[in-house]
Amino acid sequence: MTEDERAAFIRAHTRLRPVPLAPSIRIHTADEATVLWSRTEDEMATIGLPPPFWAFPWAGGQALARYALDHPDETRGAHVLDFAAGSGLVGIAAAQAGAARVEACDIDLFAATAARLNGAENAVALHVRAQDLVGLDEGWDVVFAGDVSYERDMARRVTDWLRSLARRGARVLVGDPGRAYLARGSMEPLAEYDAPTSRDIEDAECKRTTVFALRDA
Ligand SMILES: C[S@@+](CC[C@H](N)C(=O)[O-])C[C@H]1O[C@@H](n2cnc3c(N)ncnc32)[C@H](O)[C@@H]1O
Repeated sequence: MTEDERAAFIRAHTRLRPVPLAPSIRIHTADEATVLWSRTEDEMATIGLPPPFWAFPWAGGQALARYALDHPDETRGAHVLDFAAGSGLVGIAAAQAGAARVEACDIDLFAATAARLNGAENAVALHVRAQDLVGLDEGWDVVFAGDVSYERDMARRVTDWLRSLARRGARVLVGDPGRAYLARGSMEPLAEYDAPTSRDIEDAECKRTTVFALRDA
């Protein structure tokens, strides 16, 4: 599937909607989460594509976006990475808050396309990278990771890497609504939000979500 075909698919199955916790940002959001979820799983399982994480603003990302907009001092002039960007909402917030350069990475090609479309809709320049950056250090000043602790192996691998970035001096900010594999011991809470979520994809209409700074120890 080409970039244009992915963009057409995204436009066909979503609508531009404000992010509940950061309504100045609009992203391509699935109308009915479960319909899109099952359709992409059915249609795309044969070619090995993951479910459409990019079609929703996850609670962790919403909290980080709100935090970035409310604390422009965290990102002003900075080289920022939005890791596991999904829709790219956190990177968009960082760009709006004055970051000098924002990279958004995701291993899902559809997420990369969605982040590109969403960046353009919000009139910010996101440098989108469809690749796994875990283990690399490209000198980012600030690294955001929204909602990345939902699978055990991924959470462990990502947290070890994020901790190494924090150790060399990067500011690492994590948004998480209490997922099972969050490495709580390493996290310093900075702010809490009630993130509205969809009943289709969560077990609640609202999730208490924390923005943490990852400690380097
Ligand atoms: C729950 S979604 C969160 C998306 C976004 N940060 C938000 O909060 O709305 C998790 C995302 O992590 C991505 N992901 C998983 N492993 C990754 C990796 N190693 N590198 C980059 N992205 C990854 C998935 O493709 C998915 O888009």
